[in-house]
Amino acid sequence: MAGQIPTQFIDELLARVDIVDIIDTRVPLKKAGKNLHACCPFHNEKTPSFTVSQEKQFYHCFGCGAHGTAIGFLMEYDQLSFPEAIQELADHVGMTVPTTQQASLSPVKQSLYDLMDKVGQYYVHQLQTHPQRQAFVDYLKRRGLSQKTVELFGIGMAPDGWDNVLRTFGSNPQQTKQLLDGGLLIKNDKGRTYDRFRNRIMFPIWDRRGRVIGFGGRVLDDSTPKYLNSPETPIFHKGAELYGLYQARKANRKLERIVIVEGYMDVIALAEHGISNAVATLGTSTTADHLRLLLRAAPEVVFCFDGDRAGRDAAWRAAENALPMLGGNQQLKFMFLPDGEDPDSLVSEQGAEAFNERVVNAQNYSEFFFETLGSQVDLASMDGRARLVEMAKPYLKHVPAGVYRDMLEQRLAELSKTNIATLNKHLEKPAQQQKRPAKKQAMATMTPIRMAITIVLQYPILAREIDDVAAIQSVKQPGVNILQELLETLHQHPHLTTAALLERWRDKENGAHLQKLALQPLSLSADALKHELTGIVSRLQKEAKSQRINELTSKPFSELTEAEKAEVKSYK
Ligand code: UTP
Ligand code: MN
Repeated sequence: MAGQIPTQFIDELLARVDIVDIIDTRVPLKKAGKNLHACCPFHNEKTPSFTVSQEKQFYHCFGCGAHGTAIGFLMEYDQLSFPEAIQELADHVGMTVPTTQQASLSPVKQSLYDLMDKVGQYYVHQLQTHPQRQAFVDYLKRRGLSQKTVELFGIGMAPDGWDNVLRTFGSNPQQTKQLLDGGLLIKNDKGRTYDRFRNRIMFPIWDRRGRVIGFGGRVLDDSTPKYLNSPETPIFHKGAELYGLYQARKANRKLERIVIVEGYMDVIALAEHGISNAVATLGTSTTADHLRLLLRAAPEVVFCFDGDRAGRDAAWRAAENALPMLGGNQQLKFMFLPDGEDPDSLVSEQGAEAFNERVVNAQNYSEFFFETLGSQVDLASMDGRARLVEMAKPYLKHVPAGVYRDMLEQRLAELSKTNIATLNKHLEKPAQQQKRPAKKQAMATMTPIRMAITIVLQYPILAREIDDVAAIQSVKQPGVNILQELLETLHQHPHLTTAALLERWRDKENGAHLQKLALQPLSLSADALKHELTGIVSRLQKEAKSQRINELTSKPFSELTEAEKAEVKSYK
């Protein structure tokens, strides 16, 4: 897969991206000497062992051993594929991934994206030109939407009729099949196919990169179902998508907070009032996938629910799903609206400022958690308090060990009027994460070639000190070919960083090995390392020479070619 994105592009990308920016927006970093550090996002810990080197453009956790480049980080942390990580970084620095990258998407998926995009444009075009458009335009106006907002969310209309999309886009069986795959058609029991979306306001659903992956369609009147949504398709999984996230990310260079609401119209109405950081789940409850996506997108996530029973239940389900993700640098909060209101109605009646005030005053996770549990018992009685501990126990078990969990326990102790020691006897502790210190290979035990490779990887600039790289080629020692290839690569591309080198080896046999060497602590000064490297290489060059002399002199002089004879003489 990697091979389809030109190596030069990856080099260039890694030269422009700063791994510190990429990681810092997701896991806030603190300066620690030459490097930066944080508590590792890949395992639970209380003291930071996750280290980022700006110089090497590389991260490494001394606790769990996780390591890699900016590309690798996004693949791990954002759960992206290699091409997706490249795309994300390219978007970040405003580069365009060469088109060969398209080939890495399966052709089926790619054409489905294209189709969804075209159909989305078709719906928009209908809203501008269709003879029956007026009713739709009036409806959107009545709901308070400006032309700008309609455009921002790509809102369109599916005209009345059974086969508008089918006729426009399904002129042959192959195209019809694709329309079915994309969820735009319905096939009934009798085998007849017809448009899924008819006589509805159309809301395209975009993925994080702005590709149309599905639609929601709303009726203009009170008929049911009020909203019709795309079914699951190869490119649309509603449990993993958030409506409006693309627009929110586009509108905010750095999202400090995301407000999660229930409906399409809530997101859109908030945007209309200048609140551009709202997203909605797509008619489902908040899944763990949603939460991961949200917590990666912004450090603070505020759930906005109806104040009624159903809203409180939905909030509790979200809170339960969030337990394993608590305690990072992110904050989860909850806000509840007055009965009968939703964000759309509220912001339309009271304005953006009033809505924002509610957001700012949202309840902390711990408040909501203990308030909900506490409301089910009588805290004034000892029995009630004991019951609270029993109820909280199974939940706290899922919170990662760490400061936040300690604080929840502390609060539980206060509320139940007991102390931590008593409480701890009753709370199940998850097995302490084993600290697995990175194996430190003493520099002294490294073979010279390993040492040379390690130095070149970590200090690519030192490759400039070496000339006549080809001369070491004939040395028969393991690793010589890697060292030679590294040095030659750096002679051709002197500005590559450690990260860029590692990316070039990503899919090669020795890639993992090189990653390990990139992590070896080298305790010498840059000057000493330079001396060490040039020393090793010059010894290798000498060895190559003597090997060659041995080879030549083992034959009778008379059997050598003229060139070989000249060579032997040159060595004398
Ligand atoms: P609501 O019924 O709260 O609708 O559904 P709403 O968003 O306030 O819509 P308006 O203001 O009446 O236009 C919330 C969300 O639940 C899903 C949709 O995603 C909707 O935005 N839903 C609702 C459906 O999928 N189908 C339905 O029939 C109703
Ligand atoms: Mn509504």
